[in-house]
Amino acid sequence: MYADQIVALLLVLCWWHKVQSMTLGGRKSYEELRAAIVDAENGYGLGGKVFLNFDELRADRALRAMKKDELETPDRTLPAAGMHFFDAKSLIERSAVFEVLQSMPKGAVLHLHNSAAVSSKWVIKNLTYRHEARLCNIEDRYYFTVRTHKNCPENQTRLIQTMRKEHQHDMDAFDGWLESLINMKMKPTRNRSASTDELWFDFESCFDAIKGFLQHKPFFEAYHRQLLDEFHTDNVCYIELRMSFSKVFDADGKEYGPMEVAQLLHRIVDDFRQQHESFLGVKLILTKHKNMSDVELEKALKLYESLRCLAWCATCETIQPAFMSLKIYPSPSLAMIQDFGTRKV
Ligand SMILES: *[C@@H]1O[C@H](CO)[C@@H](O)[C@H](O)[C@H]1NC(C)=O
Ligand SMILES: *[C@@H]1O[C@H](CO)[C@@H](O)[C@H](O)[C@H]1NC(C)=O
Ligand SMILES: *[C@@H]1O[C@H](CO)[C@@H](O)[C@H](O)[C@H]1NC(C)=O
Ligand SMILES: *[C@@H]1O[C@H](CO)[C@@H](O)[C@H](O)[C@H]1NC(C)=O
Repeated sequence: MYADQIVALLLVLCWWHKVQSMTLGGRKSYEELRAAIVDAENGYGLGGKVFLNFDELRADRALRAMKKDELETPDRTLPAAGMHFFDAKSLIERSAVFEVLQSMPKGAVLHLHNSAAVSSKWVIKNLTYRHEARLCNIEDRYYFTVRTHKNCPENQTRLIQTMRKEHQHDMDAFDGWLESLINMKMKPTRNRSASTDELWFDFESCFDAIKGFLQHKPFFEAYHRQLLDEFHTDNVCYIELRMSFSKVFDADGKEYGPMEVAQLLHRIVDDFRQQHESFLGVKLILTKHKNMSDVELEKALKLYESLRCLAWCATCETIQPAFMSLKIYPSPSLAMIQDFGTRKV
């Protein structure tokens, strides 16, 4: 590594010597020299040594022109690039550059938590409209669920269908309110100055609110199919998916442990790959919340060991290398921006 840096330094020095002699010759303007320095520096950046062929150069020129056009559009007070993502999102979606990027094939999505990976609109319009969907209210917090249990007792849990009937005249507002439970963009903290702690609280509440839905097998399956579908529509070929492998229950109350959950997903991904040849697969990453005790950590590591074994068997049985390697990872990452980016708001 040091050797590389020394070589790079020597190259810069040699080149600098050349630039200086040109200055002394007085033939190069300041602007030309500046451009030469910037060019040389770009050569050391990511992609600096990538050379485009004729067609790629044409595509590059077209895309750059589109980008320039968008940045210069007069009817905008600010370019989208300088706005908060939530404000810019609708502008981005209407942008011609975005349309091109959307249709381009993408290698992979590498940081994705399953419980934040499907558009909130779909969760509301599809899952909450199913007859089993309920909402549990504990103090001022709300949780989507299908079953009642210790943390969501019967007397604090209502069928969403019933609640929706009570809001017949303002159903859109009701659905909007439901969506705000799992979408940061729609939280009241959005429009006032909020502290990092308040935002973090809201952020984690989105994950807590949807957890119950993902414990119901039919919802779990539909949700993950939708996940693959949404990313495939965006031309993504490969996904690394972080998840906790929580238990799942079917309509009869039968319980599915982490191994069976992994198998459920294996089947879903397999089916999807058969229908969509361009989709390569999913890597599942075991993820636990970083605030855990030593005992919980030990349990998570044991779970990781057994999942890894299962993944190995799944790989040799079906001959699909790279399908299911499982990693344990601390989560959620404090890089909030990255996490906002991955939820389809
Ligand atoms: C629900 O029932 C429990 C006891 O079973 C009680 O403590 C609680 O106050 C009740 N909650 C409501 C909202 O009625
Ligand atoms: C925040 O303000 C914008 C524009 O003023 C509005 O469209 C949006 O609904 C507001 N969001 C919330 C969560 O209050
Ligand atoms: C919900 O999604 C499933 C696919 O998972 C689809 O078959 C069904 O038609 C959708 N229902 C509604 C009401 O959108
Ligand atoms: C971490 O977990 C402990 C025990 O479950 C809990 O009391 C504490 O509030 C948690 N801290 C954070 C920052 O979530």
